[in-house]
Amino acid sequence: MSTPTTAPEPAPGDRRSPWSRTVRRTADGSLAVGGRDVRDIAAEHGTPVYVLDESDLRARARTFVTAFRDAFADLAGADVYYASKAFASVAVPRWVHEEGMHVDVSTGGELAVALRAGVPGQALALHGNNKSDAELERALRAGVGRIVLDSLGEVDRVADLAGRLGLRAPVMVRVTTGVHAGGHDYISTAHEDQKFGLSLAGGAARAAVDAVLARPELTLLGLHSHIGSQILDLSGFEVAAAALLRLRAEVADQTGTLMPELDLGGGYGISYTGADAPPAPDRVATTLADVVRRASAELGTPPPRVSVEPGRAVAGPAGLTLYRVGTVKPVVLDGGGERRYVSVDGGMSDNIRTALYDAEYTAALANRRSTAPAVLSRVVGKHCESGDIVVRDVLLPADVAPGDLLAVPATGAYGRSMASNYNLVPRPGVLAVRDGQSRFVVRPESEEDLLALDLG
Ligand code: LLP
Repeated sequence: MSTPTTAPEPAPGDRRSPWSRTVRRTADGSLAVGGRDVRDIAAEHGTPVYVLDESDLRARARTFVTAFRDAFADLAGADVYYASKAFASVAVPRWVHEEGMHVDVSTGGELAVALRAGVPGQALALHGNNKSDAELERALRAGVGRIVLDSLGEVDRVADLAGRLGLRAPVMVRVTTGVHAGGHDYISTAHEDQKFGLSLAGGAARAAVDAVLARPELTLLGLHSHIGSQILDLSGFEVAAAALLRLRAEVADQTGTLMPELDLGGGYGISYTGADAPPAPDRVATTLADVVRRASAELGTPPPRVSVEPGRAVAGPAGLTLYRVGTVKPVVLDGGGERRYVSVDGGMSDNIRTALYDAEYTAALANRRSTAPAVLSRVVGKHCESGDIVVRDVLLPADVAPGDLLAVPATGAYGRSMASNYNLVPRPGVLAVRDGQSRFVVRPESEEDLLALDLG
């Protein structure tokens, strides 16, 4: 068991804080976000609800864009793509694009949302290890700026399709560098024995590059690497970047083609509980720029234009989930002592990450202040599984009672985007808050919505 702690108080501007920048305690002791008191949010919009702090999300997007623009100013420049899998409703790709980001999509659904948001095709990247012909065709017709090839067979598929459409497809080759990084095995993506990318060591990456160069319907933009997610230590990115730069130089030497770009993926970690200090975007950017500067000089190749693809680090800290407590049950622990099971009105259907990755979260009493002693608590949902845990271990005031509101911070990424209808629970809406205003950017599902899909 990790050492249970109390949720930290909101601390705008503190990198360790899991709360978005506009979260405050009001004079009455309740929490407010985006200028809206959570008691009013719950009364007007119901619970559970995902609350998205628009100005926080925009600020994080801007910070990444500025950090990379500055760090790569003396090189060949940099672009920052928002990984829309973290969370995308039409509003979010629109916001991040307004702040200067490009957008990465990995399915037809994400592509549709980004296009509906008005993001120009040229600013989109399409990923995926198993893209359908229909997805590839839609992407090509939309004029996406790049398609990231993930297997050898895809080289000819994309080339044939581009040929049929009379287009030239801009592509990158996703390389498996062998770097193992990330918060959990399921979210590490560049070690050898997993489904993504083409192996550097095994020669598949080089074979794909050669295959692309042999097809006039394809333009080889560069190499791509994504090593994993929730990464707090930047050294894996440095190793992966250096490896890709070596392959780029080798290809230039042997074929005369110098690829103009390099994509180093996403995966920058965030603070979920207040215990972690995530790397600041300007440190990420200068660290990567240093590797690119140094390796390019050593290899004697002009530096590439670099791109990165943060998702969680933009949307994660901007979101919180607001729940209402339904029951409180003391349970005696095996070794003595007691744990409070605090059941809320959502659970693994709105946040699967605790069950799936053993992810750590924290929770705070949100509708009032309490001076009661803190007791070992577990925040659980309403689903029919004992693994339906939202926050495994947290200290909550002993007087937390049915009707209270709990806020779980840092749920803006991979919360709503991985939500399910398990137990036929309607998925919560996403309420955007800003300057005292709130509006749903995704409306809450109703039982009518669930029944509408059921053909009886
Ligand atoms: N680029 C590529 C190619 C990716 O596969 C991913 C995430 C990203 C960028 C963005 O990674 P981020 O910066 O958000 O960590 N559902 C998991 C994480 C799986 C992410 C898969 N790919 C979670 O809840 O932690």
